[in-house]
Parts: sequence; C-alpha cells; structure tokens
Amino acid sequence: MLKGRHLIDPMDFSLSEKDEIMDLADKIIMNPKLYADVCKGYILATLFYEPSTRTRLSFEAAMLRLGGSVMGFSSAESSSAAKGESVADTVKTISSYADICAMRHPKEGAPKIAAMYSDVPIINGGDGGHQHPTQTLTDLLTIRSIKGRLSNLTVGFCGDLKFGRTVHSLIKALSGYENIKLVLVSPEELKVPDYIKEEIQLKNIDFVEVDKLEEIMPSLDVLYMTRVQKERFFNEEDYIRLKDTYILDLKKLEHAKDDMIIMHPLPRVNEIAMEVDKDNRAAYFKQVKYGMFVRMSLIMKLLGVSIND
Ligand code: NCD
Repeated sequence: MLKGRHLIDPMDFSLSEKDEIMDLADKIIMNPKLYADVCKGYILATLFYEPSTRTRLSFEAAMLRLGGSVMGFSSAESSSAAKGESVADTVKTISSYADICAMRHPKEGAPKIAAMYSDVPIINGGDGGHQHPTQTLTDLLTIRSIKGRLSNLTVGFCGDLKFGRTVHSLIKALSGYENIKLVLVSPEELKVPDYIKEEIQLKNIDFVEVDKLEEIMPSLDVLYMTRVQKERFFNEEDYIRLKDTYILDLKKLEHAKDDMIIMHPLPRVNEIAMEVDKDNRAAYFKQVKYGMFVRMSLIMKLLGVSIND
C-alpha cells in the first residue's frame, strides 16, 4: 500500500512497489487523457531550496496533467528559510495547505526530517549529494521501457560519482535486480562514496572501478553520464581541473553496442557532445518524458487515487 507514504530513499519502496509505480506510468503513457482529472481538488506543494529545472517543473506538469493544482517556492531566498525558519516548521505549515509535497534541499537528510513533521506525503526531490529517488524511478522506467528489462544488465556510470546523487540512488536501486554488473568510471577524486559501495557489496553486486571510459565501452548495455557537481566542490581549482575529464562524442561511441542506451539526468554541461544527440542510442531527452509520467504515477499512488475511484 503506497497511499500516505513518503519517498525519501529509493529503497523505501520494494521492488514490487516500484513495479507498481512503473506499471501505472506505462498505462498513463498509453492513454494520458483518462487520467486528466484524477487529482482534481488536490494540491501539490513544491518546496525547492536549490535550483532545478526538470525536477520541479516535471512535478508541477505531472500534477497539472492529473487535474490537480500546484503551489510552492523555487529558492530558499524566496521562502521563510531566509528568515531562519526550520524545515520542520515550514513543513508543518505547508502540510496544512497541501496534500502532498516535493522537496529539494542542499542539506543531506532534510527531506527525511521534513517527513518526521509532515502530515502529508513528502517526496525527496534531491538532498545535497545524497539521494534523488524520483530521478531513479525515471531512470528505471527509461531502462525498462527501452531495454525491456531491469535485470541482466551491465551499467556504466561515468563522471562525478562522488557527489552525484542520481548515481547513488540508481546504484542502490539497481542492486535489487538480478545479474547487474556495475562499471564505475571516474577520476580518483570523484569515486563512489564508501557507504554506497558497502551497500552494494552486501548485496554481492559485481562492480569494477576504472578511470578510462574507452576500454569498457564495448561491455555496456547502459551508459549513465553525469556532470561534475560544481556546487558541491570546496574549491574552484579542483572543479576546473576535473570538469572536462570525460566528454562523450561519436568517436568514443564507435566501440559501443548498437543497442546500448546513453542516459543523463541532465542538466548537461559539457560531458556529452551535441553531435551525440542525433545518435539512436541517445536516451536523455526521452528520459525527461518518462520522468513526468513516473511522477504522475507516483503522485496518484501516494495520494491513493485511481481512475476507478
Ligand atoms: C540532477 C540533480 O539535481 O541531482 N538533476 C536532475 O534532477 N535531473 C543531476 C544534476 O544536477 O547534475
């Protein structure tokens, strides 16, 4: 039963609950008009203390396409956080206005605190360099839709694996599926944090860490590119030195499988050359669309509404 639950970490939902959300997203994709009024009378609040384009707007588009309403703020400066209000107090207030809340915050764990004080479901829209579970639902739905499966896959993650919260969440979620091999491509300084590696080791997931993209390319079914997370660096020189370590172009793709898919949570800075956009394997703009549909499904499930109501 997903009604009334919070989504803070990708493992808050079981495999079958994630399937349930993706199955409903598939149904919505097939006939979106059927769902156009299902959330009429419900309000989604988007509490975004950090910049966002896709996540906030796709939550808003999702709710509007379900016939519901949206309200919120898109920066800490425009909320009472600027006056020193705590997340707990803000959320207690918002939960008397809205039926469901999506929150993004620069501090790891802030949405978890919010969930402790909220009477309505809280959805983590990204907390610092920690987790980003709705991007993970987006990514899982993208892989499932294009590859037809979430098991028996070799998935490469490339770029900033240290601060990239979408990476942390997707690695955790993939570790729940059968026969997953992970290839983690990053410079030494931007390797996956130990706490994530410990979790995947506990699940006996096969993984390797390398620093060159070219040599592992032929083995991959999915390549997940990421940007270097400028805002999480302590000094600019390190960012400048590391930001262009990997730039995916058509030349590098020459030895990739014909049916490999290229994903990216976006925004892209420089890590995928524009020439790759027209390659059949590029899936990052499709991913954006799946993101909206999976959020429509998630909102319906957490509110406990369905078209048979
Ligand atoms: C990601 C994020 O905010 O973590 N963006 C997104 O939500 N699609 C990735 C990023 O900012 O690099």
